Amino acid sequence: MFHPLRVSAIERLTDDSVAVTFAVPPKLRETFRHKPGQHLNVRYTVDGEEIRRSYSICAPATEQPADPALRVGIRLVDGGAFSTYALKELAVGDQVEAMPPMGRFVLAPRAGQFAAIVGGSGITPVLSIAATLLAREADASFCLIRSDRTAASTMFLDEVADLKDRYPDRFQLVTALSREEQQAGLPSGRLDRERLTGLLPALLSVADMEGWYLCGPLGLVRAAEGALHGLGVDRTRIHQEIFHVEDTPGASARPRDENSAQSTLTATLDGRSGTWPVQEGDSLLETVLRSRSDAPYACKGGVCGTCRAFLVSGEVRMDRNFALEPEETDAGYVLACQSHPVTGEVELDFDR
Ligand code: FES
Repeated sequence: MFHPLRVSAIERLTDDSVAVTFAVPPKLRETFRHKPGQHLNVRYTVDGEEIRRSYSICAPATEQPADPALRVGIRLVDGGAFSTYALKELAVGDQVEAMPPMGRFVLAPRAGQFAAIVGGSGITPVLSIAATLLAREADASFCLIRSDRTAASTMFLDEVADLKDRYPDRFQLVTALSREEQQAGLPSGRLDRERLTGLLPALLSVADMEGWYLCGPLGLVRAAEGALHGLGVDRTRIHQEIFHVEDTPGASARPRDENSAQSTLTATLDGRSGTWPVQEGDSLLETVLRSRSDAPYACKGGVCGTCRAFLVSGEVRMDRNFALEPEETDAGYVLACQSHPVTGEVELDFDR
């Protein structure tokens, strides 16, 4: 599932972020063709420890790239081993291992008006979405509302300015800086629900938007979602991807499920099934990983959705879920990294 990719370029975007480009060998071109908005899961061994992270692809998704390359945005996260490594040590020519692009925070280019509300590094997948949409669909327009701390900390300034130059009639940019006044644009301050509720109808025709793309820290995404609900936007038009969820104390301190010590898990992965006891306190992902190192995961934090699996039978409790939409959980999907058995037997299918 992982393939070696070589770093072909590293560009510093801000003091604490870089764009890393991976060269894609011709034989992996189809495998690594991405949809706008998807991310790349990478793994690397630092000091003998395997690190996995998912990073959104900022490059537009073009039909036939002459020079296939994947460019991702990486912002330094406090205590984030790979981002620290990427900023300080990763060099052109280094090799990392990457899974093919994945993720359901995507926009298939089509005619219509679209909007995004992003915070910080949440611009990364939305840059790919907007650039691809505007290049491929002449009857589409895009409004980008972005929130950053300061101009100096804003990622992809040039790329976004380029969209403005290229598509002056179809691309609208609104910038809010939370810690700095700017000459043009919105007054400084955070974009909270109340502010967005007043701002959005003044900026665009809310009811005419085909789709809303929300991406960034949990607080901003929840504020934007709340504002859109309040303005009557149907939930099916809202797509969201959350970056940087603070650890929620208490999630791991929950009482153990009585059954977890006696539960067994059957899981199917790549067409092969196995059955294992679930050790007390272990997630279903950890249980599978004991015997199947190819089980898919990246964040282990309920955010990236890489460990999504179909619950064939039994019941589970999820500690937290920032990745699956209600339609997915209603359809029976769970995050294996967050799931603990509630019934004595549980069956998961990672292939569905
Ligand atoms: S590994 Fe990221 S949500 Fe489970």
